[in-house]
Amino acid sequence: MSEKYLVTSALPYANGPLHFGHIAGAYLPGDIFTRYARLAGHEVLFVCGTDEYGAAISLSAEKAGRSPREHADHYNGVITKFFDQLNVKFDNFSRTTNKHHKAIAQEFFLSLESKGFLTKSASDRQYCPTCDRYLPDRFVVGECYLCHHENARGDECPKCGQFLDETKLINPRCKLYGHNTELRNTTHWQLRLDLLKEELEAWVETKKDFWKSNVLSNVTGILKDIGARDITRDLKWGVPVPNCDEEGKVLYVWFDAPIGYISSTIEWAEKQGKPDLWKEWWTDKKTKLIHFIGKDNITFHCITWPAMLLKQDGGYIMPHNVPANEFYNFEGKKFNKTSGWTIDTEDFFSKYPADYIRWTIARGAPEAKDSEFTWTEFQKCVNAELNDTFGNLATRIIRGFALAKFEGVVPEASLNDEDKAVLTTALDCHKRAGEALENFKVRRACEIILELGFAANKYVEDQAPWKSFKTDKARCGTTVNVGIRLVELLALSLYPLIPTSAEALWSATGRKDALSEQRWGQINILEEDPASRVLEAFENPFGKLSKKQVKAEVDTLHERLKQHEKAQKMTENTEEKTAPAAEATETPENAMNWKDEISYDDFVKLDMRMATVNTCEPVKGADRLLKLELQVGSEVRTVVSGIREFYEAESLVGRQVVYLANLKPRKLRGVMSQGMVLAATDAGKAILLKAEQDCEPGASVS
Ligand code: 2FM
Ligand code: ZN
Repeated sequence: MSEKYLVTSALPYANGPLHFGHIAGAYLPGDIFTRYARLAGHEVLFVCGTDEYGAAISLSAEKAGRSPREHADHYNGVITKFFDQLNVKFDNFSRTTNKHHKAIAQEFFLSLESKGFLTKSASDRQYCPTCDRYLPDRFVVGECYLCHHENARGDECPKCGQFLDETKLINPRCKLYGHNTELRNTTHWQLRLDLLKEELEAWVETKKDFWKSNVLSNVTGILKDIGARDITRDLKWGVPVPNCDEEGKVLYVWFDAPIGYISSTIEWAEKQGKPDLWKEWWTDKKTKLIHFIGKDNITFHCITWPAMLLKQDGGYIMPHNVPANEFYNFEGKKFNKTSGWTIDTEDFFSKYPADYIRWTIARGAPEAKDSEFTWTEFQKCVNAELNDTFGNLATRIIRGFALAKFEGVVPEASLNDEDKAVLTTALDCHKRAGEALENFKVRRACEIILELGFAANKYVEDQAPWKSFKTDKARCGTTVNVGIRLVELLALSLYPLIPTSAEALWSATGRKDALSEQRWGQINILEEDPASRVLEAFENPFGKLSKKQVKAEVDTLHERLKQHEKAQKMTENTEEKTAPAAEATETPENAMNWKDEISYDDFVKLDMRMATVNTCEPVKGADRLLKLELQVGSEVRTVVSGIREFYEAESLVGRQVVYLANLKPRKLRGVMSQGMVLAATDAGKAILLKAEQDCEPGASVS
């Protein structure tokens, strides 16, 4: 039966690049499902966008020395590019700062308020008197009162994983500057999930036969003693609370974020020139709304968001299914960009096609439990499966026989039982793979498609066309003809998973029509005969990874981690004892201690500028540190440098320095340093660099 699916993938925060762990949870499964559902004849709309408001973006923007808007602009671009590289194709990729979002988020709030599902109450919250602001969520850090981890956030402890009451943090500090905090009374709105408990439980009950068990158990557990939850924050960056006289009250990002699915659809409809078209998705009872998310987003998608939808007047549909995935790790640990335990995606895509990673993630998708990417597994997936199974079949049949021995024209067939048996097996695999994909079982679908590949290769082995070519050319021709049919069905089966390679295989079989426009289950390779189709040159879309290559990837990873640990140690030393501006390397006399070679691409990542020192003063309590305010173009940046023993603060005012602008900001003695000034180290002395003549502040250095 043809369905109507509205598919969403969790809106990624616009505060950093995504890694393959995110991809495995929400994005690749959404893309695979969408591609499959279209082939299966369902009507599908796939929307997403960046999640741009709230504390996470504000904090990370402030750390980077950008406004939240600039920060979101930047990462929206980075994330969009990443999806392009991965061939994850949304019908619309928007942003929660789009022009429709605010109004609709406020409408949701007002509707809940008018129906009595919001309350308003005052309570104590963390406040930084120095910064003169409240410190919501991750803006405040301190010792966790449950597990005593030192760096717990106001909303959550990264160690014990518990949600925290910010007012109970031990030794709370303002995250960015380390200031002491105090508690101040402030008003917030709460969503009365307690009043909606029964309605939500009844709704979840209707899902018990088809939702994933991990999702069901999580949701029913949380619903048991659900209470009211805050849905506003004291923050500047967010959707303002409607009809509120107080400044700086915004909707909690988790309240407005899922509304981004709607505002993205509205934006899409507008782009189609049919502004009301979005309603045909969001208010049509036939639409099946599917949210692809990672497990950390279950509560919001299965409790809070449905509660919000339940009490709207617009006639919105409710989520149909939320096939949440577990976590996808990397070589035994969580992906972690800060420590370098990650894959440099630019480097990755410069070496490997997107289909390699798509297949590897799909094969090990974290559907029922956490799983992981390892370079060895990647090699196995590429070499043994993509290349030796799928690529080999196509190469043998198309290049080895159809092109080399039959002049590029598919020979006639006279099917015997063995031919029919392999074609029947392949059709059965195709059907079963479709059922798996329809039920969000990507891993299983991959296994079944591999079964198809193994059966096809075994058939070629058994038929041994290299022998029959000499003894029975008609039989050999039939084997080639059957082989072409198998590659064709394989291409269709692989399309949702590895679309680019599938298209290459498809056109190699001489099909001129678009693969994406075919119908799953409607190619009958038992009946449809490719004989006399003309084939063109064949390029195997798959290559192989050598042992050496894999070792190099693993070595790079460990080297990066080592460098990070070294840098960490240096930072610790700097913070305790302070250190000179430039990294001093102990060099034995006459021996050069060269660093590792880097590529030109690495070099151009350094954003170096000429800057003029506006002000300079010693950092209190740190006898080797100076704080410099630099004029860089129209911007002013603050840098802390370990040069106090070599320069008088006042002597630097007005002079120019070479400034490394895009070094990750870090806090030195309570002052956030946004980069570094460059200095030569000579006989243990730091000597600041400058250009031969003064330049416009902001001039780039390369
Ligand atoms: O966890 C996250 O990355 C959130 N930005 C997901 C939001 S999903 C939806 F509700 F918008
Ligand atoms: Zn502060």
